[in-house]
Amino acid sequence: MGIKILGAGKYLPPLIATNDDFAKIVDTNDEWISKRTGIKERHMANGELNFQMGAKAAKEAIEKSCVPLDEIDMIIGTTVSQDTYTPSMSSLVGMALGIENAVCFDINAACSGFVYALDMANKYLSFGEYKNILIVSSELLTRLVDYTDRSSCILFGDGAGAVVVTNSDNKFSAKLRGVPSGAYKLVAKVNEPSNAFKTQSCDWGNDEVNNFKDGYMYMDGHEIYKFATSTMPQVVQEALEKANMNIDDIDLLIPHQANIRIIQTAVKNLKFSMDKCYVCIDKTGNMSSACIPIAIAMAIDEGRINRGDIICLTGFGAGLTSGAAVFEF
Ligand code: UT7
Repeated sequence: MGIKILGAGKYLPPLIATNDDFAKIVDTNDEWISKRTGIKERHMANGELNFQMGAKAAKEAIEKSCVPLDEIDMIIGTTVSQDTYTPSMSSLVGMALGIENAVCFDINAACSGFVYALDMANKYLSFGEYKNILIVSSELLTRLVDYTDRSSCILFGDGAGAVVVTNSDNKFSAKLRGVPSGAYKLVAKVNEPSNAFKTQSCDWGNDEVNNFKDGYMYMDGHEIYKFATSTMPQVVQEALEKANMNIDDIDLLIPHQANIRIIQTAVKNLKFSMDKCYVCIDKTGNMSSACIPIAIAMAIDEGRINRGDIICLTGFGAGLTSGAAVFEF
């Protein structure tokens, strides 16, 4: 049992920040950012909320899928940068779209979120209880960025991507991974709880993490880099093995867009070709879980994905999480 993507959509806010714009606020330059990351510019929300970006991407995905709103029976949201503790981003997206009845929940698997959600959707659909699932991945990462930290602020942007999926006989295989011992390698802490009777600060069991400012993203760039370049080829190979396929069967590889050097190393380790690898990081930067569905929507619009193609998605991120999904489009 597999899945079929019926339609995909994306939303990138119109405000764009170039590398030269960053050179005005931190000690950096276009040459360093382009060479070390492949990023030239990124989109940034300018008054838009996360769920509003998600709703725009979802609307396009639903229109392209031709599924009536009242036949969307589940919405899975993926985000690390939601507007509300509760309700879920997916509930807010459903409200904005005017959906009356749909099971809504969010998952947080960081940048691997879309791959995790697609695997969940496949499982829900295969039980037959749900027919059409909207996956909406929306990230307002600029909410978590410390614009005094030049090593991280240049990496991230905002945007949303969405797909509508249903079940089909097409092939689908996924491999998910988690390494919780690496959970402190990329952290953004929620505000410390306060109450009138409290006498002690929270202790994260780690001096470095204790000192992180609430609400900002901190990461060990080198460790994440090493994790990414080793895990992505492994999960891709494992997903291919589960599907009885090999690397040459893939028509288009869509990796998480975090750093062009990570993508190039992973592609080289897979003995694959960059010509069959989708890259949009130069225009978008890293948008966590939204990168992959945005890339899917762009690749369809550009004619780089056609019905019958074998697509491979792979992501990695905080958690530490990683995953790959292989399926026929
Ligand atoms: O979705 C998952 C999220 N995270 C990631 O995927 C991050 C993975 N890691 C990376 O992409 C890379 O490790 C970074 C892009 C974050 C950093 O690149 P790097 O090649 O590992 O650079 P580095 O940290 O080794 O720094 C090299 C030098 C340092 O200067 P010194 O100590 O050699 O004098 C940094 O201070 O580059 C300096 N540097 C910068 N220079 C200009 C760091 N950031 C900048 C900057 N502009 N923006």
